[in-house]
Amino acid sequence: VDAESEVETDIDIDADVQTLEEGELQVCSDVPYPPFEYYDTDGNVVGYDIDIAAAIADALDLDLEIIESSWEGLESGIALESQDCDLVISGMTITEERAGNMLFSDPYLDDNLGLLAAAEAGITSLDDLEGASVGVQNGTTGHTYAEEELGLDVQQYEDSGLLLQGLEAGQVEALIGNISIIGYQAGDDDAFEFVEEIDTGEQLGIAAQQDNQELIDAVNEVLAALESEGLLEEIQQNWFHS
Ligand code: ARG
Repeated sequence: VDAESEVETDIDIDADVQTLEEGELQVCSDVPYPPFEYYDTDGNVVGYDIDIAAAIADALDLDLEIIESSWEGLESGIALESQDCDLVISGMTITEERAGNMLFSDPYLDDNLGLLAAAEAGITSLDDLEGASVGVQNGTTGHTYAEEELGLDVQQYEDSGLLLQGLEAGQVEALIGNISIIGYQAGDDDAFEFVEEIDTGEQLGIAAQQDNQELIDAVNEVLAALESEGLLEEIQQNWFHS
């Protein structure tokens, strides 16, 4: 799909990286997950992750290709293992389980979970969820938390666009997901009530194939350069101002 990013840097990393296609950086991402990756009105994929991907490709002198993928394939490591792409950049939390199946970069964003409810549901805290219908995106940290920490019987959605639609349509009364996306979705929409933040202390990372240490080293170099030049902060401000 066509990716669109306005990020320009003068970062130039002189690394000998192996990619699946010469001269190309193929990045898998599960769209939509705003403001990380979503379609703008012109049908281009844009967002925080897309800017980060563009900066990495640019610094490594590679052409960027974004490959839209299912979350299940990404978080399980199957997409990387079957060589669908060189990197996964998809708002993915670094977890121990996932680290058994892929190689993670240094963290590029901190995150927590949060509870978003339909305004009319009258849910005012996590304690109100017993007996309520709660939705999650299948295979996410929100899914695991809802089941394992809260003991909820959740309704699972394939992607986070469908999850939000489920809440809008009244299929579920609330959803649990990352604060970074919930804050964006709740915005000033009166239909939704942002109920509370759940302090999970998650860190998001970029992932590569288990054996592609060179690529992850190069990604880490780019992230460090973005950070020291204040660009990481700038890109963050651009997408997560709220
Ligand atoms: N951070 C959460 C996780 O890693 C959710 C990420 C979902 N990302 C996406 N593009 N749908 O489980």
